[in-house]
Amino acid sequence: MDITTSTVFIPGATSGIGLALALRLKAAGSTVVIGGRRTELLVGLAAEHGFDTVAIDITDPASVTAARDTVLERHPELDAIIAMAGIMTAEDVRDPGFLDDALRVVETNIVGPLRLVSAFIGHLQTRPHATVMTVSSGLAHVPLATTPTYNGSKAFIHRFSETIRLQLASTSVEVVELVPPAVQTDLMPGQAEEPHFLPLDDFADEVMALLRANPQAPEILVERVGFLRFAEIEGRYDAAVAAVNG
Ligand SMILES: NC(=O)c1ccc[n+]([C@@H]2O[C@H](COP(=O)([O-])OP(=O)(O)OC[C@H]3O[C@@H](n4cnc5c(N)ncnc54)[C@H](OP(=O)(O)O)[C@@H]3O)[C@@H](O)[C@H]2O)c1
Repeated sequence: MDITTSTVFIPGATSGIGLALALRLKAAGSTVVIGGRRTELLVGLAAEHGFDTVAIDITDPASVTAARDTVLERHPELDAIIAMAGIMTAEDVRDPGFLDDALRVVETNIVGPLRLVSAFIGHLQTRPHATVMTVSSGLAHVPLATTPTYNGSKAFIHRFSETIRLQLASTSVEVVELVPPAVQTDLMPGQAEEPHFLPLDDFADEVMALLRANPQAPEILVERVGFLRFAEIEGRYDAAVAAVNG
């Protein structure tokens, strides 16, 4: 992905990592369309930063189709999507409300990205070079005990990304997986103030440096996430599980 010339749609950029990357991609020269459910934030971000914006709820098939049509009508040159939108919920399989919480995570973190990829893949293949960026997590590789469905959803995104990269190998579409470690955002209550998590600006700056240095990288791995991403491969799995859950 060329960070200086792309036209990119980021559903899930009203806050956090999506917004931090949207600001940096725009500053680097790309055209950025941001999306999300909180329309009051979209209005403010458009006014403050000049983003084009589209309201989208990735759990609603009609909303995804309508957002796709709006984005492509305004930006027929679109050549990248970043499937950023996600939620993280603490769950316990022993709780009566477990299944409802788990299904919400599945609907947002698994079905949502599937809807996005399915909606945009036809258009992206018409572009000379195009990018699907998925967003998994270090927790795809080492589980956090309090978020079982979240961990599973991100493991799904990891393997799905690897597989569609194979399927699309003969097309113009590259598949890039962003694998964040724990970053200070509002993903979970209190997370933005968690001192051991990576500050959002530091994370976003490192991601941009990695994209700039290697625009063809299949995975975007900031240094901090290596501890999780390579734990099993390097024979440190049990120690990493203990550290994450300590
Ligand atoms: N922060 C971390 O430590 C961390 C680590 C690994 C992976 N990640 C992943 O990074 C991504 C961004 O998370 P974040 O940390 O930046 O948290 P965040 O600030 O809560 O951002 C989540 C974004 O997703 C959007 N979103 C949620 N549900 C949506 C839906 N149904 N339809 C459309 N948009 C929706 C939110 O916008 P609206 O509320 O306006 O819809 C928001 O823009 C997520 O996929 C997350 O799993 C984060």
